[in-house]
Amino acid sequence: MNTCTILYKIEGEGTRLMAGIGPGQRISIQGPLGNGFPIDTDFTRHIIVAGGIGVATFPCLAEALTDACGTPPEVVLAARSKDLILCEEDFRTMGCRVHVATDDGSLGKKAYAAQMLEDLSPAPNTRVYACGPMIMMKTTSDVALAAGADCLVSLEAQMACGDGACLGCVVESKEEKEGEKMVRVCVDGPVFDTRIIDWKAHDLAYGI
Ligand code: FES
Repeated sequence: MNTCTILYKIEGEGTRLMAGIGPGQRISIQGPLGNGFPIDTDFTRHIIVAGGIGVATFPCLAEALTDACGTPPEVVLAARSKDLILCEEDFRTMGCRVHVATDDGSLGKKAYAAQMLEDLSPAPNTRVYACGPMIMMKTTSDVALAAGADCLVSLEAQMACGDGACLGCVVESKEEKEGEKMVRVCVDGPVFDTRIIDWKAHDLAYGI
């Protein structure tokens, strides 16, 4: 039997309903939607940076990178505290070097994700993959770009339709598309080159 695992955090009505789904209950699923992380073996080093539940997207990426590159990626797992560090064992089982950081120091190093990335000294031949809170992705991107590394972010947004119609998931972009400097996370992303995201436009909303 084919199976699929969904890792999610109960944040609103949709995920609350998901949590109430029982064994044997039939559900319908729309997808796949949007894009995914590209796999490019030209980069000699791959570093995944996951903040909290943002880690959900990464076990599959780590597996795909390992298959394509022959070596597992390095992984930074960051969260507010120990109980919010997820999937550590999954990455270790895959052979990834895992670096754990918590804001309160309850597990791993007391540091933020971006500081952990800086300690790993990314270089121009490195591709960084980030997913987590906006401020974490912004600061991680800053470190990666300052080092000349490539950086892809998988943005999180509240989505209503999931197919590009409602514009509920837009984020501001530095590039104009169809007359708008906006991209839809659901269909244009969720994975973007960090350089096209207008992080400054999100300063107020996210307290950067
Ligand atoms: S969720 Fe409706 S446009 Fe993205």
